[in-house]
Amino acid sequence: MGGEPKYVVQPLGDQNRAAFHCGDKELDGYFLERASRDIREKIAAVFVLLTEEDKNSVFGYYTLSNQEIDAGELPSALTKKTGKYRKLPATLIGRLAVSKAHQGCKLGEFLLIDALKRALEATGSVMSFAVVVDAKGEQVIAFYEKYGFMRLSGTRLFLPMKTIEKTFPSINKTSELDPQGSSKT
Ligand SMILES: CC(C)(COP(=O)(O)OP(=O)(O)OC[C@H]1O[C@@H](n2cnc3c(N)ncnc32)[C@H](O)[C@@H]1OP(=O)(O)O)[C@@H](O)C(=O)NCCC(=O)NCCS
Repeated sequence: MGGEPKYVVQPLGDQNRAAFHCGDKELDGYFLERASRDIREKIAAVFVLLTEEDKNSVFGYYTLSNQEIDAGELPSALTKKTGKYRKLPATLIGRLAVSKAHQGCKLGEFLLIDALKRALEATGSVMSFAVVVDAKGEQVIAFYEKYGFMRLSGTRLFLPMKTIEKTFPSINKTSELDPQGSSKT
């Protein structure tokens, strides 16, 4: 009986969005008013943190989209093998938030790791050079830096996909083609 809840992350469905508050009006407003539209319009995928026991209450959420980053902004050590591309493909964590009542319990870390794994998994189908994030102000930058993110311009940070791949070597990148060219999936 009791014990630690088992957390799960899944695509946003018909959960109770109005009850979610993280302390940031923009992030709360986005989740309530725009998240579903962004899914419908194919602008962002939205994932929610739930418990096995209660799949209606949202403890946190994040969004993923495709982005381009300026190769010129990256450290030259990272781009010396990328050729002459001026733009590189990336995966954007557009928003990431944990409910106010549950902050400081490592759920932000849980969500971020889930997002990084998901971004890496997706490179089996659509390649991405890095994960980027626009931190909500200087105060949150330290949160991302803790997990190896490096600063680009302003409050934008990035983590190379090769670093993520080394961190999670067991991630099975789906849809790898076999030598005959047919998908394994
Ligand atoms: C920022 C946020 C996502 C962090 O989630 P959280 O669940 O509170 O953080 P966690 O408990 O997972 O913290 C993991 C680690 O990051 C650190 N950390 C958390 N928030 C931090 C912050 N704002 N700055 C620096 N470090 C932070 C914690 O101290 C912890 O470090 P430790 O392992 O050394 O103890 C959450 O506080 C939040 O939703 N804030 C409001 C919305 C927001 O600003 N979102 C960011 C959008 S870019």
